[in-house]
Amino acid sequence: MKITIKTPEDIEKMRIAGRLAAEVLQVVAPHVKPGVSTAELDRICYEHIVNEQKAIPANVGYKGFPATICSSVNNVICHGIPSPLKILKDGDIVNIDVTVIKDGFHGDTSRMYVAGQPSVIAKRLIDVTREAMFKAIRIVKPGATLGDIGHAIQTHVEAERFSVVREYCGHGIGRIYHEDPQVLHYGQPGTGVILKEGMTFTIEPMVNQGARHTRLMPDGWTVVTKDRSLSAQWEHTVYVTHDGVEILTRVPGDDNEL
Ligand code: MF3
Ligand code: CO
Ligand code: CO
Repeated sequence: MKITIKTPEDIEKMRIAGRLAAEVLQVVAPHVKPGVSTAELDRICYEHIVNEQKAIPANVGYKGFPATICSSVNNVICHGIPSPLKILKDGDIVNIDVTVIKDGFHGDTSRMYVAGQPSVIAKRLIDVTREAMFKAIRIVKPGATLGDIGHAIQTHVEAERFSVVREYCGHGIGRIYHEDPQVLHYGQPGTGVILKEGMTFTIEPMVNQGARHTRLMPDGWTVVTKDRSLSAQWEHTVYVTHDGVEILTRVPGDDNEL
């Protein structure tokens, strides 16, 4: 596959899709509380996308995925399937990952939420993961490399004695949900693809409290930490501008901004 360079017209549509995805994460936020099920959170997101945004929830049916959001609680790294049986309890941490298609283009974003009060270590894991994502985003500009991005994330995470998941990565995005390039969340500076104006991709580090190793559950989707430690993830879709970066999935005033 080849890395697609978006036209200004494409970018205008990516901005809209990105903003819609970000709005879903805002709409669901007040509902993430002890006692709610992840299926209920999924329903809220689905209804908003379909009825209010008149957009398409990209995850539904994607490679057979059965829901609108991935809801990944505590030791779940990613791709958790919403369930009426999964009721959040006080102190749970959860990543909600949503992708919206509008006018043929995708916007993909995720963030961490806490039900009630998190433990000190859970809060630190969430904050370090968020900082790692933003450190990487700040590096994005024409001439920087994907290795620079991976290195920034890995360095920040490992300095805090957490670990970076290797099996899952960020990705190019546009008319196609997952396109080239792969955006690894670890690596060496100055290596890999050189960024060019018009590229759009996600940065979505998954960070484990313990070891980086993963295990796929028998449902074929849910990815958990092998050592059952907590895991956190944040994700933005970004656009390489002529001299830097634009976050396509940010909502002004929210804490998902730089
Ligand atoms: N949104 C995820 C990502 O960041 C992919 C989810 S695919 C699904 O790339 F099928 F699990 F929904
Ligand atoms: Co995502
Ligand atoms: Co993604």
